[in-house]
Amino acid sequence: MTLSGKAKIAGVMGWPISHSRSPLLHGYWLKEYEIDGAYLPLPVAPQNIEAALRALPKLGIAGTNLTVPYKEAALTICDRVDEAARRIGAVNTVVVENDGTLSGSNTDAFGFLENLKSESCWKPKDGSAVILGAGGAARAVVAALIDDGVQDIQIVNRTIERAENIANEFANGCTAVRWDQVDDVLKDAALLVNTTTLGMAGQPDLEITLKALPTWATVNDIVYVPLRTTLLRNAAKRGNPTVDGLGMLLHQARPGFSAWFGKQPQVTTGLRDFILANLKT
Ligand code: ATR
Repeated sequence: MTLSGKAKIAGVMGWPISHSRSPLLHGYWLKEYEIDGAYLPLPVAPQNIEAALRALPKLGIAGTNLTVPYKEAALTICDRVDEAARRIGAVNTVVVENDGTLSGSNTDAFGFLENLKSESCWKPKDGSAVILGAGGAARAVVAALIDDGVQDIQIVNRTIERAENIANEFANGCTAVRWDQVDDVLKDAALLVNTTTLGMAGQPDLEITLKALPTWATVNDIVYVPLRTTLLRNAAKRGNPTVDGLGMLLHQARPGFSAWFGKQPQVTTGLRDFILANLKT
């Protein structure tokens, strides 16, 4: 749509930025809701990230998403960060306030939970959750599950120290588990979430046997390229309900869009199909 002089502008900063799907996603919503606005990929070199964020209010830009490698640096650059960003240790959404200050937040936990709840019958009281991985994505998932009332979270990671760090920080029923002990925790799980990079296109497969997992447990892979990972295919074969990772990407974008453009966007099958068609090319 043609922009007027009043168009609202937002974008995503990263380095590199060409891989980002956010411009496609926000572009779809801007068109769908006929909003006078634009969402731009912003390639910002590492030495410029602070100046680039500080320039947002000077340019009248409404805010920005942040992707690799800026999510951690933004914690100290923003004038304030919300509780979620602080706990997760990363900012993925920056809103320019009316007074020109920068508010940082993290919407990954929100996106994870919205996707899980809209795509499955899983409930926090169903039992324990087993999380594979202990990186930034695992932190968002653990924060989301704790806030939603899950009382027993088993964090399984190849490097046990990273799982221990998360378990100690978040406390509240979190336990660190060695990778070779995954079977012991799977047998009591109501939810299994893969947050590792295993199974992602170009990465090794996630080799894990699901034998011990109850067949009613929900299996969620946050990987979305490919959409149906080996983990999800194996889980579905034995009857487990499965949730793919695309919805988390779509839902995490909603709070930023609504803050910058003034409209609560919906995650629809039309949006999913549009992004999926573009993931393949
Ligand atoms: P993100 O911030 O996106 O979660 P990350 O911090 O790089 O990414 O974390 C990647 C996760 O995938 C980690 O849990 C990592 O395990 P380690 O902490 O032991 O590195 C996990 N991972 C990556 N490759 C792996 C492999 N070959 N085997 C087991 N786990 C792997």
